[in-house]
Amino acid sequence: MDKRKIILDCDPGHDDAIAIMLAGRASSLEILGICVEAGNQTLEKTGNNTINLVQYLDLDVPVALGSGKPLKRAPMTCAAIHGETGLDGFPFSPLKIKYHQQNAVELMKSLLDKNEDVTLVPTGPLTNIAELLVKYPEVKKNIKSIVLMGGSIGYGNVSPAAEFNILCDPEAADIVFNSGLDVYMLGLDVTRKALVLPNVMKRMSKIHNKAGELFIRLMKVFNENQLKIFGHSGAPLHDPATIISLLNPKVFTFKKMNVVIDVTGGPSYGRTNCDQFDYLHQPHNAYVAVDINVKEYWNEVEKGLKRYSK
Ligand code: RIB
Ligand code: CA
Repeated sequence: MDKRKIILDCDPGHDDAIAIMLAGRASSLEILGICVEAGNQTLEKTGNNTINLVQYLDLDVPVALGSGKPLKRAPMTCAAIHGETGLDGFPFSPLKIKYHQQNAVELMKSLLDKNEDVTLVPTGPLTNIAELLVKYPEVKKNIKSIVLMGGSIGYGNVSPAAEFNILCDPEAADIVFNSGLDVYMLGLDVTRKALVLPNVMKRMSKIHNKAGELFIRLMKVFNENQLKIFGHSGAPLHDPATIISLLNPKVFTFKKMNVVIDVTGGPSYGRTNCDQFDYLHQPHNAYVAVDINVKEYWNEVEKGLKRYSK
């Protein structure tokens, strides 16, 4: 079976790291490149985390940096959850590999010029992808879909209305959701059900390889920070939902609906207004995840970790 070609676009970030890990050895996926943007931390830190993860996981994939700033609004980060480094909790070895010489938009452009049916998988703010679509709209013909972690039908996680990835750059999200491409939105409604509870930690701690060690060390810090901020007894593991939806289509249930991004700048700035009951009869521009098979989610995480050698 042909591998599904993907380009990751991330802001590691503890949950981004697990998403990269699950994609890294998946026999059904081919990672063409990994692009980085600011989000959980500044670009310098999310970039450093990404390239460290690629080196640690021994992935032969180009890593390219984005612009590091949103299209319009002021940058925001999330050190409270991801720490000062953006990936607190894991001591990486000294870096030997370097960033790709092109920036994120130029790398995506060159990959999309050479490949068809490519799935873009953003797990951070949508700045890089919005910039790509504005600068090179012709690449759309080679984009199969955009499978993103972000938004929510319900309430937000950084404001009452908005989820972090969308609020980091609402104008970029507006461009992506109105691109005419097939957008799959894995939002908080489903990812908040994938909690790294003690039974999950116990199950993954039995995986004695580099992936299992990375998972346990990162999730320990991720859980501690989420407990401090939200009182969660287990952190919601958001970003791997994108990769898992590609690996096992049975895990998530999607419903196509109209999604409007609030770019008014008021108290609902960055909200994904998801018209799940079609009140407004507007064009259905996104497939929104409305349910998750949590048991299968963790089965996919366990399988993903086991794909790595010692
Ligand atoms: O709201 C959760 C999202 O924001 C995740 O992608 C997490 O990594 C942060 O970027
Ligand atoms: Ca992220």
